Amino acid sequence: MQLSDMERGMLEGERGDAVRTAMEILVALGEIFDADRLLPVRSVQIAGVSYHNLGDAGLEFVEQMATDGRAVVPTSLNPAGMDPDRYREMGIDAEFAARQMRIVEAFRRMGVNTTLTCTPYHVGLVPARDDTLAWSESSAVTYANSVLGARSNREGGPSALAAALCGRTPRYGLHLDETRRPTLRVIAAGSLRCPADWGLLGAAIGQQRPGALPLIETAERPDQVSLKSLAAALPTFGGQPMFHVAGVTPEAARHALPADSLCVDAALLRATRERLEIGAEDRVDLVTVGCPHASLDELEQLARLLADRRVVAPLWISTAPAICQQAAKRGLSQTIELSGARIWSGTCFAVAPLKGRFTQVVTNSAKGCYYGAGHNLFRMRLASLERCVQTALAGRWSEVDR
Ligand code: F3S
Repeated sequence: MQLSDMERGMLEGERGDAVRTAMEILVALGEIFDADRLLPVRSVQIAGVSYHNLGDAGLEFVEQMATDGRAVVPTSLNPAGMDPDRYREMGIDAEFAARQMRIVEAFRRMGVNTTLTCTPYHVGLVPARDDTLAWSESSAVTYANSVLGARSNREGGPSALAAALCGRTPRYGLHLDETRRPTLRVIAAGSLRCPADWGLLGAAIGQQRPGALPLIETAERPDQVSLKSLAAALPTFGGQPMFHVAGVTPEAARHALPADSLCVDAALLRATRERLEIGAEDRVDLVTVGCPHASLDELEQLARLLADRRVVAPLWISTAPAICQQAAKRGLSQTIELSGARIWSGTCFAVAPLKGRFTQVVTNSAKGCYYGAGHNLFRMRLASLERCVQTALAGRWSEVDR
């Protein structure tokens, strides 16, 4: 891989130990993927923040990098393992919280904007079309590539941090035109009535054709929340951090229809849902929404649904701290929490240490179903946002018209 004189200097330690380590990571990655050079990045988003996932080895690495590493481009941070202000209410112990805060502080010392969100595009970090990024949270990467037309591989936490400190990322994968071409035509024939259904569509495509980059044809017109839901599910189930939707996403019209095709009809959606919901019962221990993190519009919708009502089952809502503050200013948080629901900011139920606390969980996120079942061994159920709220109000699952 060709390096400029400045990049070679970074590799030789001219800008300190952290930058040298970072450049070593980028060069190793570039060589593995046969990159010809490094590209300057416009922004970075770093995942792998929860102490639950990083452990002591990760904490040590981040603190070591923070001794002299500083982000040189706008850099956003993924959710942590707890709400930093309300972790006791969440039932998180003080020891975990202390270690988690050391991780967040280390990132802060490096000049990382501790947004603690997987939806940086809701809090001001909105890439432009063709911007080169090094983002790592899979739903954020997929949203940036597919909906915004920016360009990012799905970075690991260390390679995203390395990109933040060096301002560069290796040129391979989704930075190249040819890799952004669709490889699968998807005819979405089943009805997609709500964002949760779009997540189900992403799960179906990912499970049926892992790794395929779909060009989706559908009579429905997805809103932003539906695209966010699809962007969360597709890479979770199929590993592919990009999709096109004909007539909707910015690069779809550039491409011819792929020869390989998949029809996602009502029967396939139903079968996909049944797989996600194995073992689910009518009893409900927790209802959780906000995966990916809820936008202000979604909090507004929740406030409307919960106004003057009381939840019976716990209802947890995950969002970014900045969105939570805006919601409080508008009185939305108060309305929501008066119902007994809780808004946790800067975290989510998938990265918090919740194993063993719940068994039967309902969510509006297909990605949430995957992680709830996989990480925490919860029995999951997928429902629309409205149905999630109804379930929390009723305290048990009520039949959904599917
Ligand atoms: Fe975000 Fe957590 Fe879901 S990081 S996409 S809310 S699993």
